[in-house]
Amino acid sequence: MNSKSTNPSGTVGSLTQSDLLVVIANTVQDRLFLLQVEAGASFRFLCINDAFLKGTGLTREQVIGKRIDEIIPSPFHAFVHGKLQDVIRDKTTTLWTEHAVLLPEKHEGEVAVTPITDETGNVVQLAGVIRDINWRRNEEEEGRELTCHLIQLQDEERRRIGRELHDSTAQELAAVGMNIGLVLNRTEGGDTTNDTLLSDSLAIIEQCNRDIRTLAYLLHPPLLEDAGLSAASHEYVNGFSQRSGINVTIDVSPDLGRLPTATEQALFRVVQESLGNVHRHSGSTTAAIRIWREDDRVILEIKDQGHGLPPDMISAEDGRISKVGVGIAGMRERLRQLGGRFTIESNTQGTTVMAMVHTKRNEL
Ligand SMILES: Nc1ncnc2c1ncn2[C@@H]1O[C@H](COP(=O)(O)OP(=O)(O)O)[C@@H](O)[C@H]1O
Ligand SMILES: [Mg+2]
Repeated sequence: MNSKSTNPSGTVGSLTQSDLLVVIANTVQDRLFLLQVEAGASFRFLCINDAFLKGTGLTREQVIGKRIDEIIPSPFHAFVHGKLQDVIRDKTTTLWTEHAVLLPEKHEGEVAVTPITDETGNVVQLAGVIRDINWRRNEEEEGRELTCHLIQLQDEERRRIGRELHDSTAQELAAVGMNIGLVLNRTEGGDTTNDTLLSDSLAIIEQCNRDIRTLAYLLHPPLLEDAGLSAASHEYVNGFSQRSGINVTIDVSPDLGRLPTATEQALFRVVQESLGNVHRHSGSTTAAIRIWREDDRVILEIKDQGHGLPPDMISAEDGRISKVGVGIAGMRERLRQLGGRFTIESNTQGTTVMAMVHTKRNEL
């Protein structure tokens, strides 16, 4: 501690040093405890911090002065006593991992216990920390793992449905179309109503076949695997512009080359999802896509000139975007998995989506 801020009586401001230690202990989010070692291999709680009480749901009165056996569930008594005896015997800080002692179900804790000795070298107290190492995992990472798993499942499912539609349904429809064409050829001129019905059916089947092929393509763009991000994006943008009436320009730097499959997949999905959002949400009649390299990064930008994200999605404080849908959450997660970055900037003049991935030229 800085001696200038400590006066001779050992106080800092209005706090004594022991008060300060209490403040610090209660700021620590891990569970801290101090045990008195008593005869007969008994251990009694002398001190605990707020995180200990918060984590166990007990009150200070329920813990202080109590033997550990009164606090810890009986199935773990032998385990904990064994560990504490190890600390006393070895006279050194001891670490272990445990699953259920004073921890919520399914959590794992890292425990560290340090012996405190008296002048004669006897261990009189034990100071310990329990860190709930699964806390963040449960809250945040399990959500991410789930999203990641869902994205993978979604990709596989899309690929499967896309192939099925293309290889099976579209071929069968084409066969039915051919049969109807043959029937029409043979009976044409016999009955006008029949002729009209057959040629209408033929037209409907051809339209269905086109729709199915488009859908199959959207679900699983074969060009992406064969020809890469640039070719697949150009082709996608052409089709999108025709269908939506939105004028989309695309500018891919000539030195882009092929990227790792996962990167191409992720960036292509960002193109698809973002153009879908431009169409559905932005009100813009134009959009511009750029993909370029900058040092060892590949950057994708999709800009529209629409009215921007709804104001309640953008925090007035820090500009962060919340209340996102599955689309934005999925794009973010895909980029996060690749160690890249995903950002959205939006105002009343339009929205810009950017995705950045680190990639080396020869990393394929
Ligand atoms: N380009 C855009 N322009 C305006 N608003 C947008 C744009 N992209 C996304 N949004 C807003 O963000 C919301 C969340 O988007 P998204 O996560 O893709 O989910 P969804 O498209 O299913 O609604 C949209 O509902 C929309 O309000
Ligand atoms: Mg969307």
